[in-house]
Amino acid sequence: FGYLNFLVERDRAYIINILISGLSRLEYRGYDSAGLAIDGDKENEVRLFKEVGKVAELRKMIDQAKPDTTKVFNTHVGISHTRWATHADNNKLIYKSYRSDLKSEFTVVHNGIITNYRELKTLLEKKGFIFESETDTECIAKLAKFIFDNQPSVDFTTLAKLVAKELEGAFALLFKSVHFPGEVIATRKGSPLLIGVRTEKKLKVDFVDVEFGGLEGVVGEAHGSSASRLGLPHGHHDRFLRRAQSRAFLNDEGMPVPVEFYLASDPSAVIEYTKRVLYLEDDDIAHIYDGELHIHRLRREEGASAIRLIQTLEIELAEIMKGSFDHFMQKEIFEQPDSVINSMRGRVDFVHKTVTLGGLRNYISTIRRCRRVIFVACGTSYHSCLATRAIFEELSEIPISVELASDFLDRKTPIFRDDTCVFVSQSGETADTMLALRYCLERGALTVGITNTVGSTLSRETHCGVHINAGPEVGVASTKAYTSQFIVMVLMAMVLAEDRISKARRRADIIDGLSRISEQIKTVLASADHIKKLCQERLMDHPSLLILGRGAQHATALEGSLKIKEISYMHSEGIMAGELKHGVLALVDENLPIIIIMTKDHLYPKVQSALQQVTARKGRPIVICSEGDREIDNGVYTTIAIPQTVDCLQGLLNVIPFQLMSYWLAIARGYDVDFPRNLAKSVTVE
Ligand code: G6P
Repeated sequence: FGYLNFLVERDRAYIINILISGLSRLEYRGYDSAGLAIDGDKENEVRLFKEVGKVAELRKMIDQAKPDTTKVFNTHVGISHTRWATHADNNKLIYKSYRSDLKSEFTVVHNGIITNYRELKTLLEKKGFIFESETDTECIAKLAKFIFDNQPSVDFTTLAKLVAKELEGAFALLFKSVHFPGEVIATRKGSPLLIGVRTEKKLKVDFVDVEFGGLEGVVGEAHGSSASRLGLPHGHHDRFLRRAQSRAFLNDEGMPVPVEFYLASDPSAVIEYTKRVLYLEDDDIAHIYDGELHIHRLRREEGASAIRLIQTLEIELAEIMKGSFDHFMQKEIFEQPDSVINSMRGRVDFVHKTVTLGGLRNYISTIRRCRRVIFVACGTSYHSCLATRAIFEELSEIPISVELASDFLDRKTPIFRDDTCVFVSQSGETADTMLALRYCLERGALTVGITNTVGSTLSRETHCGVHINAGPEVGVASTKAYTSQFIVMVLMAMVLAEDRISKARRRADIIDGLSRISEQIKTVLASADHIKKLCQERLMDHPSLLILGRGAQHATALEGSLKIKEISYMHSEGIMAGELKHGVLALVDENLPIIIIMTKDHLYPKVQSALQQVTARKGRPIVICSEGDREIDNGVYTTIAIPQTVDCLQGLLNVIPFQLMSYWLAIARGYDVDFPRNLAKSVTVE
């Protein structure tokens, strides 16, 4: 997160607060350590503050350092970072990263991973640089200094281009330098980065033009561009001036206006200050100085988009606040009756029993004709694909495969032009999924994105897609995004089957099921206390837990066990009930907690035999059963009764007890629900 004020007087306290508050909003992406760089008391002095642990620790550390918070800056650049460790152990070494030298001539914050950092480090060490840490980020700052020392007249943009050109891997970077006071560089490749803009009056500019010119042409390039300097005829001059204004923020007299810029990995960090944002694209080098925002390209290229729109965000601050809940995860679990409705809003006509997905409209016939549909995702998103695979196959009658993005790439899966590849990602930024997307684009497949994040890399780089509209999800353990992805994939399957008379009855049943789903979710949520008690009395002290499910409920078992692992650190395995007898049964005894998903569907008799196999070995399973199932819910077993819905939607309800269970297990075991150790919500590294 970075912040730049131009002609707006801000004292140091304000600047620190804004950096800390921006970082806190991004903390869900990683919280191994945090740091920030601001101007010092003397000219050309930069102060770094770093601390292991969460942003709150950094705040404490700054308070203890007692910097003079009253010093006022008319123009100032602050950059900051909350870190999910990809390199080095997460302790002492990390304090010292991100700077080029002891004087911090160049400071850098970085999201991503530099894969050739060892080569760069060796080279820089040979040139006499002494590294302070094991992080990949440090080599970026040192490389900047190395280039600058050799070409002291280089401008900031060119310098950033020269640095970026050497970097392999994925990155979003902000650069600050004592040599370019009041200027900041933001650049990205593979990791998201956006710039929020705020001016006192309504922003007049709604796009920023890209200043083309590859590295070849840029050395010695002056700041800005003026038509007269370029010797353009008069007509061009006007157009040039108008376009030049699209990068400067000027008043009616053509004078620069006070302006503030917020640079961040995602919009949740800027929404508090401005809703006007511009998303950078890969290889963009944004340079902000003197109240102007210039966007350059790293390479000369044909046919690239010549402007970056300044868009208006639609999320509200309240959506990313906890409200009356103790944790984001809890809030998001309890939001599901609403979020599922939001995913269907404007798409499902419950009266005429039709479904419309505007984002796919022009591609439906192509998808219907494709040779196969391949779903690609990671983590919870992968489970939502598994959960809807059967209904997708049934309705679309197209062969479906579901792939973990990393494995899909490892195998170099053959992909053809007549394949449809559907990428499912809450954040729309997960590196493995994005790499798989690019792999499929290169092979000419049709690509579809299903994501919760408008403006994300996924929604920008796919041919078409659907936003799940669940609202921002902040808790690291995904909950409402899972149920909304589930719904959107069912809707997509229904749209594909629209032309089949033979499926009309089934589609109508599903639509009826969807019309009741929100109320049924409320009913399941009402059992929260029962589940909390079960966790405290039966589960919390055990080291391990098995979850058995069959058919589509295997996905529920996998997702349930992932939730429990992520948040409560209890070992947990989701098991295909049919596989029980092929090995897992050896684990069963009177102590091991086992949960069996046994809601009524056509596989009920088969799951019943798994139940018998468990009880015959003295197992005492907890059974997730359908409301009113007297055979099971008769006092013999401990049960969690769930309302019944159409078989293919049952997973939407069955997953909720597991979400609640993981929440209450984590609380009972004293863990930080929203910040599980070692994890990050959005993993933008491979
Ligand atoms: C991370 C998160 C998981 C999430 C996965 C995929 O590993 O910790 O909760 O399911 O990424 O994220 P995506 O944003 O692509 O759905």
